[in-house]
Amino acid sequence: MVYLTRVEQFNAAHKLQNKAWSDEKNKEVFGKCANENWHGHNYELHVTIKGEPDAETGFLYNARTLGDLIKDVIVEKADHRNLNLDVDFMQGKFTSAENFAIGIWDELKPHIEKGNVQLHCIKLIETPKIYVEYYG
Ligand code: NI
Repeated sequence: MVYLTRVEQFNAAHKLQNKAWSDEKNKEVFGKCANENWHGHNYELHVTIKGEPDAETGFLYNARTLGDLIKDVIVEKADHRNLNLDVDFMQGKFTSAENFAIGIWDELKPHIEKGNVQLHCIKLIETPKIYVEYYG
């Protein structure tokens, strides 16, 4: 079993807010992510797949094809957009890094898993100090 990771970057705005809570409680729990007038993150997305290399190419997956797929399915929807308002698969969800990673997994999985190639991990870096990993 070999693992291959493709890294892509994009920038997006969001806001974390529980409408059932007061402004004070939202600020206390979500910090800067509760800012009323939105704010942005420079996201770095690591998509790791696993399987056995192809006998004819030595590749698990063509890394450029994987990059194009991530761009088509995720980056085109999220880059320079508002995660709360613009990204279809995040509608009605808290746009935390955790939920965003799960959403990215659900979007990518049906496109990636063919033959013996499986999606292994979505790692989403939200800030230099915070990232999440989702293994399905
Ligand atoms: Ni934030």
